Amino acid sequence: MKTVTLSTLQAVKRAGETFSCLTAYDATFAHAAGEAGIEVLLVGDSLGMVLQGHSSTLPVTLDDVCYHTRCVARGKGASLLMVDLPFMSNATTARLLEDAGALMRAGAEMVKVEGEAWMADGIRELSRRGVPVCAHLGLTPQAVHRLGGYKVQGRDAEQAGRILEDARALVEAGASMILLECVPASLGRAVTEALEVPVIGIGAGADTDGQILVMHDVLGITAGHTPRFVKNFMAEADDIQGAFRRYHEDVKARRFPAAEHAF
Ligand code: KIV
Repeated sequence: MKTVTLSTLQAVKRAGETFSCLTAYDATFAHAAGEAGIEVLLVGDSLGMVLQGHSSTLPVTLDDVCYHTRCVARGKGASLLMVDLPFMSNATTARLLEDAGALMRAGAEMVKVEGEAWMADGIRELSRRGVPVCAHLGLTPQAVHRLGGYKVQGRDAEQAGRILEDARALVEAGASMILLECVPASLGRAVTEALEVPVIGIGAGADTDGQILVMHDVLGITAGHTPRFVKNFMAEADDIQGAFRRYHEDVKARRFPAAEHAF
């Protein structure tokens, strides 16, 4: 695979094609995912749950994310490396810039931040300084206590309209990508069609420009409840490399997600 950049993903969108994304937390798995053709790797703050055993992403620190970013950056090959800004990095614009700087120095090529239209100023300042930003909307796990649990967002017309307007405002402010988590497939499609930037979905239906899953879910080793949008690709593969390849190929062919994975 040729080195993946933001321009690569923009071209994929323009061509009406799709790209695959997967979380990664260390060099070995990052290498395996890159070899399988996966275009974007995310050092997600999901590491708090799947690596550290917490019940949410809130305890994850900037140091934790920087450590895993350095590990993934050493193994990743040609994939684009996106990294999560942890809980409260968006407390002030000054802190946002400091924390994003630390992630970029650790090897991030794009940062992801949770928050609605109120994040516009912070995203504008990051973008001005050359930091590409992916804005995470819909179910934002850092707000799990405000949301009252890990629930589908944007089910009614008013909520859906607000998510679409938030996405437009953040792109207008400079966001280079949008990630939509756990929203109805119809909203995933509407946001993707309305924006010029690539939209990645997780539980957002089949029509977004990219798809992302947590690596442990792809390998079928997540403890506890399995969300509807998850598929265990290990069940159809002989080894980890095969499961990553199958996931990548199914995303590219729009075989995944199927209707049963959507809301
Ligand atoms: O932290 C993470 O892994 C994420 C994905 C679920 C998109 O944000």
